[in-house]
Amino acid sequence: MKKLAHAPHTIALRLNGVERSGECEPRTLLSDFLRYRLGATGVHVGCEHGVCGACTVTIDGAAQRSCLTLAVAAEGRDVTTAEGLAPVGEQLSVLQAAFRRHHALQCGYCTPGILMSCTDFLKREANPSESQVREMLSGHLCRCTGYTNIVNAILEAAATINAATAGKDPAGPEVDSQRSDAGSDV
Ligand code: FES
Ligand code: FES
Repeated sequence: MKKLAHAPHTIALRLNGVERSGECEPRTLLSDFLRYRLGATGVHVGCEHGVCGACTVTIDGAAQRSCLTLAVAAEGRDVTTAEGLAPVGEQLSVLQAAFRRHHALQCGYCTPGILMSCTDFLKREANPSESQVREMLSGHLCRCTGYTNIVNAILEAAATINAATAGKDPAGPEVDSQRSDAGSDV
């Protein structure tokens, strides 16, 4: 019985649009599996008990703490990390470009997790208020920025995406060229 509990499992999932697999123990956390088995080091690990939000990924489109999820629970699922947000090459997604423009990061440790929560959030809340953005951010700890620039970046990204969707993109062709089926719409 003890042997069975520690027997390695092969987990197959879709990571950032690519079929991947690797072995892990039944107790392995998804955060560790993604970082150490699949090399997705954009998954940052801070508290490892669900408080800081640094490890957030999306699973089938929904933001989840990967430090609170067993790797075996991601079998067959669609997992996206910050590495999967950029459409192609070195282009940035609309959200990533807004973070850069607003200096919404300093050390960057919290950033991948925040980007993943925002990706889910902006799909559910296309036109969020500042207080909704701040409420969403309450699930993430950032020691550096004071949050104001993060809020501004998210609000700008929402406006850019809405304008582009309405066919009157104020940011011009730069934003259009960042959008592609290969990456996030956000
Ligand atoms: S490392 Fe997962 S919430 Fe902090
Ligand atoms: S930018 Fe350093 S923790 Fe957020």
